[in-house]
Amino acid sequence: MNIPVLTIDGPSGAGKGTVSRAVAKKLGWNYLDSGSIYRSLAIAVLKQGVDLENETEVAKVAQAMTLEFDCGDELIVKLNGEDITPQLGLESTGNAASIVAAYPGVRRILLQKQKDFRRLPGLVADGRDMGTVVFPDAEIKVFLTASAAERAQRRYKQLMGKGIHANLKLLTNEIEERDRRDTERKTSPLVMASDALYIDSSDMTLDSVIDEVLNLIR
Ligand code: DC
Repeated sequence: MNIPVLTIDGPSGAGKGTVSRAVAKKLGWNYLDSGSIYRSLAIAVLKQGVDLENETEVAKVAQAMTLEFDCGDELIVKLNGEDITPQLGLESTGNAASIVAAYPGVRRILLQKQKDFRRLPGLVADGRDMGTVVFPDAEIKVFLTASAAERAQRRYKQLMGKGIHANLKLLTNEIEERDRRDTERKTSPLVMASDALYIDSSDMTLDSVIDEVLNLIR
């Protein structure tokens, strides 16, 4: 049976998570936040004192780790039985995730974990290579982006809203650095699938992006 998939790829901070979660909820479909898998691996690597630059050791951690996801209103992730949700969203976790995600062996090991999310009645999958590598046969593909300045601004507001001190210039630099690493890596780089719809959300509200994606499905 062909289980429908909607893929939403794009750079960090473009609003993929919010849009994907809202669309999945509206449709009653499952949701895969593939970035959280790479983030969980980064946390495991750091916890075990493994060098992020040691590809062989990082791949061993990826092979051995067990992950449990509870995709309710808030994503809850358990790594080897331990709740790591509070660490998932940290900037440091995202930056480390971008390093381990560049290793081909790691991506190979984590591929099936992502494919396993394809369950009835359907799946919304968000990441970098959902439409190009993990679910190339997806019916509907979206490439969601926004300018680096706008993405940094959104992240800044989000952090300040949570009472976390942030530096806009530093955030912009980190976002640009992460874009560079994610797009220039050799394995599964961030590229738009040839059959994806391009949406630039720089001047759009997230609600209007959600409507546009839902219209595609209808
Ligand atoms: O979407 P995110 O910010 O949670 O992703 C964190 C990092 O994980 C991102 O910088 C690159 C990597 N990633 C990836 O390589 N492939 C994916 N499908 C999702 C994330």
